Amino acid sequence: MEEKNIMTYETVSLDDENSQLVIIDQTRLPYETKMLYLKTQKEIWTAIYLLQVRGAPAIGVAAAIGIYLAAKEIKADNYDDFYKAFKEAKDYLASARPTAVNLFWALDRMEKVVLDNADKSVEEIVKLLHDEAVAIKEEDIWVCKSIGEYGLSLVEPGIGILTHCNAGQLATAKYGTALAPIHLGQERGYNFKVFADETRPLLQGARLTAYELHSAGVDVTLICDNMASIVMKNGWVQAVFVGCDRVAANGDAANKIGTSGVAILAKHYGIPFYVCAPTSTIDMECATGDDIHIEQRPAEEVTEMWYKERMAPKGVKVYNPAFDVTDHDLITAIITEYGIAKPPYSESLKEIFAKKEAA
Ligand code: MRU
Repeated sequence: MEEKNIMTYETVSLDDENSQLVIIDQTRLPYETKMLYLKTQKEIWTAIYLLQVRGAPAIGVAAAIGIYLAAKEIKADNYDDFYKAFKEAKDYLASARPTAVNLFWALDRMEKVVLDNADKSVEEIVKLLHDEAVAIKEEDIWVCKSIGEYGLSLVEPGIGILTHCNAGQLATAKYGTALAPIHLGQERGYNFKVFADETRPLLQGARLTAYELHSAGVDVTLICDNMASIVMKNGWVQAVFVGCDRVAANGDAANKIGTSGVAILAKHYGIPFYVCAPTSTIDMECATGDDIHIEQRPAEEVTEMWYKERMAPKGVKVYNPAFDVTDHDLITAIITEYGIAKPPYSESLKEIFAKKEAA
């Protein structure tokens, strides 16, 4: 097993020739650091579906670069033909995963470039799409940094922090969302003690969060998901930070399966539970968590993913939702790049968007 300093790698990028999407294959981590160079729409769709690139913001950046690469290949000499082919490519990429709204947010933002520039040549539109994809990635870096600063303002040095799944650099263009306060705190000598839930079934906590934080020199302890209660009861956790895939207008937040259980535990033990959400992850069109489409994943992820031998009886019924929704009343605050939203979220999230408009 070759472990590297994963913090020195870019999670998702466009190559120098503007011809390939470059990602770290996250299904191979931490065993192997393998870069994938993807050109075709099928390759990019498959990478998103298989979680080779994963985490809501990173999926958004990959989709933006992906649709730019698709647009470059469209053979059309007039706007209508170009837009028709663009729309087909967009719908195809949008079908890769249903829950993380960043996928649709990024593709819609790219489509707006096409719609707003109908008077320009195809060549000019493709150039603008390149610039927009690059901007989406660059913005994600400052968005995450800003979330990190706001998150850090809520906690004291030296505390214990629990996190679930991976909402770190590997899930974004840089820093992460839930892990951004931890990375910034590490740079500033905060000496946090982090507990990373392993996050069954795909072990993003063990394979990615523990790896990422360990690489960054953070004091991280890996725990199985069913150990969160005991570490809280022991008094080792003073705050929970998690990322999210979609926040509804009332503050309900979909994140990796198991997150809502952690929130319930945190409430029981009186520990603040913070959801870190770029505004690109907040879907004001979704009234409540009931409107969020929860992805169902293949049974094999539960029955035979990690051992060479089967881990469960052949043919057993499996329920494998990839995400769950944490009720807004379990969430202490939602940390965005434009500030910290507190209950009632139906008001405070609107204020966050008003700040964004004014910026
Ligand atoms: O299925 P995944 O690995 O894409 O799920 C990722 C998560 O649930 C993350 O917590 C979420 O996308 C936030 S990433 C900043």
